[in-house]
Amino acid sequence: MPGLVPGIHVLLSVSHMPDADGRSKSGHDERKIMLYAIDLLTTRRSVKPVEMTGPGPSPAEIETILTIGARVPDHGKIVPWRFIVFEGEARAKAGDIFAKIFRLKNVTATPDQVDAEKKRFMHAPLVIAVVSRTSKHPKVPPWEQELSAGASAMNIVHAAHALGYVANWLTGWMAFDRDVLTALGLSEDEKIAGFIHIGRSARPADDRPRPALGDIVTRF
Ligand SMILES: Cc1cc2nc3c(=O)[nH]c(=O)nc-3n(C[C@H](O)[C@H](O)[C@H](O)COP(=O)(O)O)c2cc1C
Repeated sequence: MPGLVPGIHVLLSVSHMPDADGRSKSGHDERKIMLYAIDLLTTRRSVKPVEMTGPGPSPAEIETILTIGARVPDHGKIVPWRFIVFEGEARAKAGDIFAKIFRLKNVTATPDQVDAEKKRFMHAPLVIAVVSRTSKHPKVPPWEQELSAGASAMNIVHAAHALGYVANWLTGWMAFDRDVLTALGLSEDEKIAGFIHIGRSARPADDRPRPALGDIVTRF
């Protein structure tokens, strides 16, 4: 099954294996996979980076997460997003940038505040920045390109959860500070759609209230 990410490939190949009596069990197992997907989508919730631990996703899992991040609706096939992976020492390097710029722009900042900036990427073992890069297009306005970057961020969150990790989509002041963006390698016309923190959770996450469908759905 070309084009499928490794985990899904395994699941589907197993689901098409015949039972001992020769009958196909694919229908049964495909339903199980579908229920698993629905369960994942209806129960996923964010976990704060401070509550995350390692180990983080393996290189193969990171590739799966990024592959799913790149599999989103994209009007005009513009690819209006790219990803930056922060793992290991790269997280500390990013923290040094945040702390340095924060100190320069907040002269009254306490050492504790500066230290907190330094540690921003140190809680989760993996952070993926989703960079939104819009370009001029005769049919696709920047808004649609930015929405595609948002879809990409959400796909990364779901992919992480599907692999048994937890995630949190954050921005923060660093996502809007031009000096930080330049230091992270973003060009003038690129923006951060989100920093997706990914790790393991030591305990089940508390949910938050969700909007009642009656408040947000109308029928035309
Ligand atoms: C674009 C975007 C940026 C966000 N930035 C922050 C942030 O900087 N700080 C924060 O506490 N939450 C931020 N959030 C919200 C977190 O993702 C939040 O934990 C999440 O909405 C919780 O809902 P969930 O459990 O359904 O994931 C942001 C959400 C989005 C969509």
